[in-house]
Amino acid sequence: MVPQLSILALTAGLAALASASPMQPKTGSFSVSQVANVNFRAHGPAQLAKTLSKYGVSIPDGLARNIANLDAARISVRTSGSAKTTPEQYDIQYLTPVDIGSPPQTLNLDFDSGSSDLWVFSSKMPSNSVQGQTIYDPSKSKTAKEVKGASWNITYGDKSTSKGVVYRDTVTVGNVTVQAQGVEAATQVSDQFTRDASNDGLLGLAFSGLNTVQPQQELTWFDNAVKSLDHPVWTADLKYHKAGTYDFGVINKSKYAGKISYVNANSTTGFWMFGMSGYSVGNSTFKPSPFQGIADTGTTLALIPSPIVQDYYKAVSGAKVDPFQGGYVFPCSARLPNFVLGIGQTKITIPGKYINYAPIDKSGKTCFGGLQSDDGVGFSIIGDVALKAAFVVFDATPAQPRLGWAQKRL
Ligand SMILES: *[C@@H]1O[C@H](CO)[C@@H](O)[C@H](O)[C@H]1NC(C)=O
Ligand SMILES: *[C@@H]1O[C@H](CO)[C@@H](O)[C@H](O)[C@H]1NC(C)=O
Ligand SMILES: *[C@@H]1O[C@H](CO)[C@@H](O)[C@H](O)[C@H]1NC(C)=O
Ligand SMILES: *[C@@H]1O[C@H](CO)[C@@H](O)[C@H](O)[C@H]1NC(C)=O
Ligand SMILES: *[C@@H]1O[C@H](CO)[C@@H](O)[C@H](O)[C@H]1NC(C)=O
Repeated sequence: MVPQLSILALTAGLAALASASPMQPKTGSFSVSQVANVNFRAHGPAQLAKTLSKYGVSIPDGLARNIANLDAARISVRTSGSAKTTPEQYDIQYLTPVDIGSPPQTLNLDFDSGSSDLWVFSSKMPSNSVQGQTIYDPSKSKTAKEVKGASWNITYGDKSTSKGVVYRDTVTVGNVTVQAQGVEAATQVSDQFTRDASNDGLLGLAFSGLNTVQPQQELTWFDNAVKSLDHPVWTADLKYHKAGTYDFGVINKSKYAGKISYVNANSTTGFWMFGMSGYSVGNSTFKPSPFQGIADTGTTLALIPSPIVQDYYKAVSGAKVDPFQGGYVFPCSARLPNFVLGIGQTKITIPGKYINYAPIDKSGKTCFGGLQSDDGVGFSIIGDVALKAAFVVFDATPAQPRLGWAQKRL
């Protein structure tokens, strides 16, 4: 997901946030249970709206490089971890179990490389806005400590909102534990979140500069955990219609084929922004056509420059823009060509079937496209439709963050 930048006030006090400290990981093996799929209303246009609608994004200049405050000397080589992530229907989002507090309360969170707040449904919310979600109850955690006077609020592209208060508590993902992690307990969420029964909150994996906690920002779980990781990286191996994994501190060679191609990431805006070199549709020749976008695990679709989107759907019979749906639709029976994205030295092929996102209604005749235009956003948003076609490395090396892309067996 992409937060509206207007609400993201950055403060200078990041250094003060370093109080959260990772502790030694639990030893031995761990397993992460699958998250059940529920009947989430999958709706392409809603997903598009969620991402698109009028960000009015004008990137503030001169934002401090937020990870500069991370402990630069990562001498000790300690651990790595892996967590299984399971998609909801139509891969609308991928949920990963996270343990919060002592004894652990397990919540299923949407790992979102497009935002930087770790916020959860909580016991501080009115009961009628909790409909099936698991809540975090700080009063039941021996390690929970309120951060007095701190508050947060976040508004996403679709005007969905959440806000609340802040605790510090122990947070474990896979087998990596951070003590005194900022856990943002919701006191209020908008209906969009209440209706999503299986999503208990978000775990932001963009750069900490986007965190919305006031008066002093919190570091992301990853920025706290990084000191105890073997390498300052995490990887996304999302899968088509089945569970994938997020790994932390390790690049697992068995999860991709060939070489990882790295491109520098620009973290100035707090996002994982990178450049793409061009594209091709089906088997046609590669068209150099550079554009910038962010790698966003919290967005379902891929939003790219409209001339490219047009070029793609020219190759799909019956495809058209449906103003009512807000994007490209086509007969569900249409054959979709592959879409190839040029990134650094590699080309990532998104299979045509990934781009048939979902039927727009119960009749199942018309389908909504997984590639849509980024008009009005100001940059492209490379969401799950594209990410699941690749093995993606989010390398947060402070001197120069970068993204690595490798092909994998699909
Ligand atoms: C869990 O952490 C240990 C180090 O404490 C590491 O050796 C192991 O590989 C990790 N497990 C996974 C699945 O990453
Ligand atoms: C949300 O936070 C911003 C500061 O980041 C603040 O200016 C604004 O008043 C807050 N809005 C609400 C509804 O709490
Ligand atoms: C690497 O991934 C493979 C399967 O994709 C898994 O079986 C193996 O345990 C992973 N290795 C580590 C160290 O996590
Ligand atoms: C990074 O992004 C910022 C904001 O969009 C831009 O001003 C800056 O030139 C970019 N840096 C590089 C190296 O591209
Ligand atoms: C693209 O090429 C592959 C292999 O050469 C072939 O199997 C496939 O049918 C071609 N696709 C199209 C749309 O022409």
